[in-house]
Amino acid sequence: MSDKHRTERLTADDAGLARAAQLLVAGELVAVPTETVYGLAARADSAEAVAAVYRAKGRPDFNPLIVHVPDLAQAERLADFDGRARLLAERFWPGPLTLVLPRRPEAAIAAAVTAGLSTIALRCPAHPIMRKLLELSALPLAAPSANRSGAVSPTTADHVLGTLDQRIAAVLDGGPCARGLESTIVALREDGWQLLRAGPVTELELQSALGKPRPVTSAMIEAPGQLPQHYSPGKPVRLGALTAQDDEFFIGFGGLSGHCNLSPRADTAEAAAHLYACLHAAALSPFARVAVAPVPDEGIGAAINDRLRRAAA
Ligand code: TXA
Ligand code: MG
Repeated sequence: MSDKHRTERLTADDAGLARAAQLLVAGELVAVPTETVYGLAARADSAEAVAAVYRAKGRPDFNPLIVHVPDLAQAERLADFDGRARLLAERFWPGPLTLVLPRRPEAAIAAAVTAGLSTIALRCPAHPIMRKLLELSALPLAAPSANRSGAVSPTTADHVLGTLDQRIAAVLDGGPCARGLESTIVALREDGWQLLRAGPVTELELQSALGKPRPVTSAMIEAPGQLPQHYSPGKPVRLGALTAQDDEFFIGFGGLSGHCNLSPRADTAEAAAHLYACLHAAALSPFARVAVAPVPDEGIGAAINDRLRRAAA
């Protein structure tokens, strides 16, 4: 039913938040800002609402969704937390870290959310608007990035409408996302831990909490955000470019300025916040191809380069 809707654009004031919560409780889809990217939220306990998420995104249903919760206490009702999981939650929540943990069998979560896995991905977001929505709806919210499957993730309400207009009930406009890259995903297994997706919480920060990752012998976990081709602007992308050809949209960094510059002062956190906006601009530009200046691998730079490699694949 959401498919044919005019998509409401809501402002993030009391009335807009109340409307968004009302739509979510009714099982509708609402795109919402988080500190990482905009998420396409649906009540996680409703099979119909979750099915509508997969439909709106054109997402394969073997690719499970992240469930967003307001705090650790709510998270512990959905998954089994051991000492390591609690340590990570206490250190990094609310914030851009997703934990993949054993799902509690009695958790009231639609089966499609976890795509048949025995684990569940949980995140406690920091964005005040998303937090308010979790409080008003009083529901765990499943929310993948609010874009058509495979496309560049959205960091503004306009990006969301670019691919999901008329496919979802509403978008709540909270301005640009501060971090600009999806959360770090870590899986905790009995015999070790695994970084499933690089993100704003770095591997070094995880190591300082958990020690070195040990090779995991349990079944391989698939995080389809890890598919080699993802985040594509729909045109060829060339990395490590120092100059651009005439038919290339040039995404610069530091002293290498282009049609768009990730961070003129060569700051990787700023570059992360601008990455998807530059890829969206490249997609909409008349240029046939895209060239991207080198970005250093340190800190969140590792996550930026991970996304760029997939955009170029
Ligand atoms: O920052 C974020 O994480 C954003 C915002 C909206 O919170 N959400 C996001 O969702 O990036 P999405 O659906 O685009 O990415 C979710 C990733 C996918 O790669 C999926 O495969 C993985 O999480 N995932 C979900 N449940 C999993 C599980 N049980 N085991 C392994 N990977 C899982
Ligand atoms: Mg995504």
